[in-house]
Amino acid sequence: MRKVVVIAPTFNEKGNIEKLIEQIFEQSKNIPNWEIHLLIVDSYSKDGTAETVRRLQKQYKYLHLLETEKEGLGKAYIRGFKYAEEMINPYLMIQIDADGQHQPNRIPEFIKKIENGADFVIGTRYSKGGSIPQGWGIHRKILSIGANFFIRLGFMKLKITEWTNGYRAIKFWLVKNAYDYLKNYSGYVFQVAFIDFALKNKAVIDEIPVDFKERKFGISKINALQYSSQTIFYVLAHSSFIKFVIVGLIGFWIDFGISYLGIQRMHQAVWVITLLSTESAIISNFILNNFWSFRHKKIEVSSGGFLPGFLKFNLVSSGSIAIQTIGMQILVGFFGRKLWYLYKILIIAFIIIPYSYILYNKFIWKSK
Ligand code: GDD
Ligand code: MN
Repeated sequence: MRKVVVIAPTFNEKGNIEKLIEQIFEQSKNIPNWEIHLLIVDSYSKDGTAETVRRLQKQYKYLHLLETEKEGLGKAYIRGFKYAEEMINPYLMIQIDADGQHQPNRIPEFIKKIENGADFVIGTRYSKGGSIPQGWGIHRKILSIGANFFIRLGFMKLKITEWTNGYRAIKFWLVKNAYDYLKNYSGYVFQVAFIDFALKNKAVIDEIPVDFKERKFGISKINALQYSSQTIFYVLAHSSFIKFVIVGLIGFWIDFGISYLGIQRMHQAVWVITLLSTESAIISNFILNNFWSFRHKKIEVSSGGFLPGFLKFNLVSSGSIAIQTIGMQILVGFFGRKLWYLYKILIIAFIIIPYSYILYNKFIWKSK
């Protein structure tokens, strides 16, 4: 029998915890091949949450309690992971909120996805079949939907529809690999960091739609301001896509700067300067992308792949020069020259950026 540990962090969840424990152990009958353990990680709640758990431990053999300082949701989870490794040594870990917002009867579906080969299954509120509470005010809806949309676009991983919800199943080998990385994220942003880590470590990711119910008792512990600023900062600092766009902008200024100096100031032959300026931008783009934007899959100089990579990069870049030239010609042909700069911006934003990003990922910085 494989072991699964469900981890539920709690801070003042006395009103919710008993029902959660009952409902989770009720699921054992639906997953006969699994031994289900439940670990409550309580940050010294003041309302008696831990006492309730201790009372129920007499009834449930596989109910565990870990009491920790209040250091944020991420920290509570990491402590839970370590405890589970030592005391239970599970094959699978499931994260769940303790306040009734996540329904335990979905556990068998998470497990099914794992049995079918996924390493990391996300419970998503934002794909068909998932939901957020009807009763949420417009502000909360916009905040939650907006945050997920921002993260999706920022990482350009459109297949993943939910980054923040805390209902997930993750194979324990991946959890163990993630310790060192995740310990830097003590708050709720840890949820985003975990998916980012899984993606960059080639985990097989899958989703199931889930409902997010209204909290039954008590109040949310999230600090919206701290959470959104940490999330924005995380995405800006870790998104290959955003870095790739920044690298492109730097390349543009190198190209422009050299052209300005060579043509306007030094009066050199335009073709010589253009060749020099575009190639300089290409070199800068290649190096910055390799050592920064796509660092997690960088081509090592020692691997012998550097030069072929650079040549392929030149080929893709020639493609974008060709696309821009032809595109400009077509638009100017149709609509005249007056708004040329607008055409250029549109072509770059909607054709060149997706074209290069996709080709870089497919041919140059392939997933290892
Ligand atoms: N041990 C511990 N320590 N538990 C905590 C702490 C803490 O510092 N902070 C929160 N929790 C527990 C809560 O008791 C609850 O069981 C769970 O973590 C989720 O916290 P809520 O306060 O209910 O947050 P929410 O419903 O607003 O959170 C939603 O967004 C988060 C961030 O995206 C949910 O979707 C979460 O699953 C998600 O992580
Ligand atoms: Mn909640």
